[in-house]
Order: sequence, then structure tokens, then C-alpha cells
Amino acid sequence: MSVSPEFHDRLLSLGLARVSEAAALASADFVGRGDEKAADQAAVNAMRTQLNMLDIEGVVVIGEGERDEAPMLYIGEEVGTGSGPAVDIALDPLEGTTLTAKDMPNALTVIAMAPRGTLLHAPDVYMDKLAIGPGFAPDTVTLDMEPAERVRALARAKGWPAEEITVCILERPRHEDLIREVRSTGAAIRLITDGDVAGVMHCAEPDLTGIDMYMGSGGAPEGVLAAAALKCMGGQIQGRLMFRNDDERGRAAKAGITDLHRIYTRDEMVTADVIFAATGVTDGSILPGIRREPNWLTTETLLMRSKTGSVRRMTYRTPAK
Ligand code: FBP
Repeated sequence: MSVSPEFHDRLLSLGLARVSEAAALASADFVGRGDEKAADQAAVNAMRTQLNMLDIEGVVVIGEGERDEAPMLYIGEEVGTGSGPAVDIALDPLEGTTLTAKDMPNALTVIAMAPRGTLLHAPDVYMDKLAIGPGFAPDTVTLDMEPAERVRALARAKGWPAEEITVCILERPRHEDLIREVRSTGAAIRLITDGDVAGVMHCAEPDLTGIDMYMGSGGAPEGVLAAAALKCMGGQIQGRLMFRNDDERGRAAKAGITDLHRIYTRDEMVTADVIFAATGVTDGSILPGIRREPNWLTTETLLMRSKTGSVRRMTYRTPAK
């Protein structure tokens, strides 16, 4: 029996940054052009091509969708050259397709890699999410608390009045009650139209972003990516899958999930060391977007390793094609 080479996160991380950069560069021509699908397709193609150059035996566990829905980077697709460590890959080649098409803030390309079997195979359903930054006792806030209670608990832990807390929430009709409850505490809310991976990541750097907490439902795959980011940056996230019908429950069964009500902590979504890369597509509070100058394109990539807590910011300048 052949033994898979070890997961050398240090060596693999630079390759991962290239994958993320390539997806961002491919979407550059589509920023502000009103065509979400074309932007996404360009990012998917580029990410897949670059990913297949890495010496890994990779399997996409968080990807573009089920095999019958997504021709590329579908869940279960094998990626990489096949010679190298067995790894799980979670990716979103363009997190914020609408943000990109409308040139609105915080569109990112995102990818995480971890040893095989260590990333939650989250089905493509919604997940209720709750995140805060680093430096708090475990379970300072939990999904079992009412939204107002979460705000008050975080305020107590910070030694601040609740009015000083800012919560980030996706602006959706389904969040009307949530927003009302959070406002009842006096806390401020930053509403975002899309992009909850970035929304959660904002919690890890509250001084930079002004966000203390993330709440609300969004894609479960994005929840796993956000957990990978926070495992590197510090911070807590909890997620509970949400099911609207039998088809969605079926997706969970297919992914091997039996407890449909379980609350997953960050380290239950990402159970081993992970590496994470994100490249800015449009300007945001965490990453600047792609910069265009005559004949040149410049990207900035955040590359992080949970094992060391290292955070690299890499600027890449390349001739525009
Ligand atoms: P896309 O990049 O696929 O457009 O997703 C963006 C996003 O806002 C995610 O960040 C979020 O998790 C999800 O969509 C929310 O879904 P919905 O738009 O159905 O509320």
C-alpha cells in the first residue's frame, strides 16, 4: 500500500496563493461589467487550471456544486497532479459574483487546503452563522442564545456597552427579525449585500474593519471557508445547517451528515491545520481589489497558515494580457 506524503503546509502555501491570484486575475476584465456568470466562469477556469498544476492528490469537498450541476470544480472532483499529499480542498473561485459584476466592495477569490478528511463536507444548503474575533473564552456567544443575548454577552466580555458593538449581517428579507432584535440592544449593524466569507473575516480584525460580530444565515460552503480563515486569523465561528426541504436533507445525507441539528464549532468544521488564501477582486476592508494600470495588473493576496498563525500579504504585479 502506498503511503501519502505528508501535508507540508509551508511548501504548499505558496502554490495556493498562485491559485487564488490566478482566479482573481481572470475575473479582472469582468469587474463592473454586469455579467456575474462570465466573471464566475473565468475565475473557475483559471482556478482549476492552476490547481491542477499543484503536486497534490486533491479532492474538492467544498466547490461549485454537485457534479450534475457544476461541470468544473464540483464536489468530489479530483484535482492536482496526483503526486503529493492527499488533501481536501474548499474553494470559491469568486465569492461575491454580484459584487464583482456591480464593482461593489469585498469580492474575493478564496481557497483552503487541509489534510484529507479534515474539512467538513458541508452540503449546498444554508447555514446559520455566528462569529466573533480572537481573545474571548470559548462559547462567549453561542448559536443557542437569542440574538440580543449574544450582543450583550459580547459587550460584557469586552467591557463595553452594547451600543459600542457593531454586528455584520447580510441584508435579506429572511433577516428582518434578526436585525430588529439586534437593534433592540442599541448595537450598530453593518448590512452587506453579499459576501459573508469576508463578513466573518471582518470579525478577526475589529480594529481595522469596525466589525465585532457576524450573525445570520448564508451558504454552508461559505461557512466552512470562513471557519478555515478564522482558524488561521483567530476568532470563533459556530454554524448550524438549515434545511428547507427533503432535497436539502438528501444533500446532507449524501455528504454523510446524520445529525441535522448539530452546531459545528470552528474546529469541528476544520479539524486539522489548514492553509488559506484569498485575493481581493474589488476593494474591501480586508483586501484591496485588482489594480489596473496601463499594461499592468496588480493583486493582493492574504496567505495564512493555522499551524503558525502566520499571515502574509503578497502583492503580485503582472503584465496585462
Ligand atoms: P455568490 O458569490 O455565489 O453570488 O454568493 C454570495 C453570497 O452572498 C455568499 O457570500 C453567501 O453565503 C450567500 O451568497 C448568501 O446566499 P443568498 O444570496 O441566497 O442569501
